[in-house]
Amino acid sequence: MTALKTMAAVLARTEDPMWILAVDGFDPMMESSVESRCTISNGFLGVRGARSTARCELCVVPTRTYVAGLFDSPGIKKSAQELVPAADWLFIRIVLQGCPCHPGDLPAHRMTLDMRRGALLSESHHLSAPDIGLRVRTLRLVSMSERAVGLQLIQLEVEHGEVDVAFEASAEGTGLGLATDRLDQDFGLWHTRDSGKRLALATMSSFQIDGQIVQPISLGPLKWSWSWKSRPGQLATFERFVAFERTDSLELDPGPKARDHLRLAQRAGWRGVVTAHEAAWTSRWLCSDVTIGGDMDAQHALRFAVYHLNGAANPADERVSIGARALTGEDYYGHVFWDTEIFLLPFYILTWPEAARSLLMYRFHTLDGARAKAAGMGWRGALYAWESAATGAEMTPEQVIGPDRMVIAVLCGRQEQHISADVAYAVWQYWQATGDDDFLLQAGAEILLETGRFWASRAGLEADGYCHIRGVIGPDEYHQDIDDNAYTNVMARWNIRRALETAALLRERWPARWNSLASRLGLADTELGQWWNVAETMKTGFDPETGLFEQFSGYFDLEDIDLKKYEGRSVPMDVVLGRERTQSSQVVKQADVVALLALLPEEFEGETAAKNFRYYSSRCGHGSSLSPAMHGLVAARLGDAATALRFFRQTAGIDLSTTRVGSAGGIHIAALGGVWMLSVLGLAGLSFRSDGISIDPHLPAGWDSVAFSFQWRSRRVKICIDQTERRLIATLEAGKPMTLFVGGKPNHLASTAAASAISW
Ligand code: BGC
Repeated sequence: MTALKTMAAVLARTEDPMWILAVDGFDPMMESSVESRCTISNGFLGVRGARSTARCELCVVPTRTYVAGLFDSPGIKKSAQELVPAADWLFIRIVLQGCPCHPGDLPAHRMTLDMRRGALLSESHHLSAPDIGLRVRTLRLVSMSERAVGLQLIQLEVEHGEVDVAFEASAEGTGLGLATDRLDQDFGLWHTRDSGKRLALATMSSFQIDGQIVQPISLGPLKWSWSWKSRPGQLATFERFVAFERTDSLELDPGPKARDHLRLAQRAGWRGVVTAHEAAWTSRWLCSDVTIGGDMDAQHALRFAVYHLNGAANPADERVSIGARALTGEDYYGHVFWDTEIFLLPFYILTWPEAARSLLMYRFHTLDGARAKAAGMGWRGALYAWESAATGAEMTPEQVIGPDRMVIAVLCGRQEQHISADVAYAVWQYWQATGDDDFLLQAGAEILLETGRFWASRAGLEADGYCHIRGVIGPDEYHQDIDDNAYTNVMARWNIRRALETAALLRERWPARWNSLASRLGLADTELGQWWNVAETMKTGFDPETGLFEQFSGYFDLEDIDLKKYEGRSVPMDVVLGRERTQSSQVVKQADVVALLALLPEEFEGETAAKNFRYYSSRCGHGSSLSPAMHGLVAARLGDAATALRFFRQTAGIDLSTTRVGSAGGIHIAALGGVWMLSVLGLAGLSFRSDGISIDPHLPAGWDSVAFSFQWRSRRVKICIDQTERRLIATLEAGKPMTLFVGGKPNHLASTAAASAISW
């Protein structure tokens, strides 16, 4: 029988510094970034790491809790949806001898994100007067096993002094963004003003002093208060359970489900909730942890990345995806970009295929929005929204205020169309890696066909005999309204070819499914023939003479600026040069041709890969957090581990640097996905093949070893790469025998019991 956890053990943090992120004291300048970093999330609920107390009596800033998919249009523009925050269910107020305690007054305050356990802990020491001392320890979590449930535990320990203590617990910000339908003592019900969603919160709190339950003395909607006379050595504990439920229709009442979740959590008690939550995190870490021998900074950065990646997804909800800041902040309004398919899906496909499937199903459920966007612009098939929210309709703002306070038109919503090929790419990768034919038949094939159809209608055959795609924006958003962006065109060609392959495969293996799908989509053989012609004549911008892809038509004629002269700058290149000069230069915002090289390396033969990387990486200003990781991934695959490591550290610093406040509006989840990609797909060199998995390690100096697990077609494999011995140990932990290619040579992984030692 396992011993029952004590409250003290649950409130104690994991000791190993590689598993925690500790923040001492209170620095108002860094506070917002710290809140983002210390978010706890389970893919349904995300709670920023703000203190639960007010900063001062006049300053009650609710801790933001986000509920995935809770979008509304709070502004005048009804078509623009934003993620709206739910009530702050964590708020407390401690009053000692009539004086409220605030974090700014504390002589000692330490907050710890315990990444291993998926919990945020804090410990503080209140000294209101020389003769009063109170130690406060807290824990908060949103359950990884029951995603509706949140738990807050607080322990107050009176060190010395006999004083009047008051403890209040309430939910703040209950009117923020949502319209209130009902507020009771233990229940709240809200609806969004425009998007037809409802949210319920069921909650229950209890307070004990020295193990005895104490009744609240004043009650109000979602508000409790207790007061007592302290004595030295006294222990008081507060427990609060919450359960949230969202429905996507005003007809559906989320209340009963929220109450059911709460009832189950209460029945399990805080010990049961903590135990099940920690077990769920342990199993996530088992599938996704990456350990690095010899480089503690890299190890810590990877843990931080994998912690947030595991917290961002919810395999149980196909109606939501992951926004550019996940559930950690409001930058980009919770909108979903290509970040998910290109920077996050590789992690989920290889470590959590159920989550990957759900994220792709979100694209399936929003296919009608994508079809409507294509039709509205005069094309066929599916053009996904550059910024997507609940329905798949385009959410990109049409204007923003630039750094020079001028209003700038944003063309991405109309022109950044590579998103459709990016979604198709992720669908194909998922299917290749999992062999999930059911997904292909139910959803994936339709996405591939409709996106392929879009490109075939989008590209126009011109007098030079080539198909051109004019008037787009590639990943490099510094250059707008351009023609024949290499990334877009080559990805579009790849998309059309996979659509044709899908059609042929369905026709051969699942003819009944093909017939019904083709008839529903109105797909005739003549149209497929036209797609083939488009793919064969697509302009790519590749020049066999130089071995370079031209990023877009006319790019090589633009001003060539030496970026070395601007090293050490603290602002992006478009701010340094101004918009117009940037647009007329070869300065690139982020990986564009380099991104193509990362996704479709087979399009770059022989030396052309290194040539293109050299050319474009020296012209990239890394004006997006997505950029350095892509460069690092490519550098690693090209065998330049030192450069890859430099990009690794640059990417890790985006959210972890203690001198930047760039994460105030949320962590950069795509950059964190990039940290994982750079390490596993780049430095460890994992790639898919149709007949197995290939590992081609290029570890940097200082990384003595790297170990990680992955899943492939219902198998689970653990890999430990030992750089010192140039040896790799592969263990097939579950599933049928398979082939693992190491340094190009096939190795048969036969038994789930024995490990294979392979030299490379
Ligand atoms: C980048 C896009 C990215 C978006 C959201 C922009 O700054 O240029 O590529 O999708 O941020 O992360």
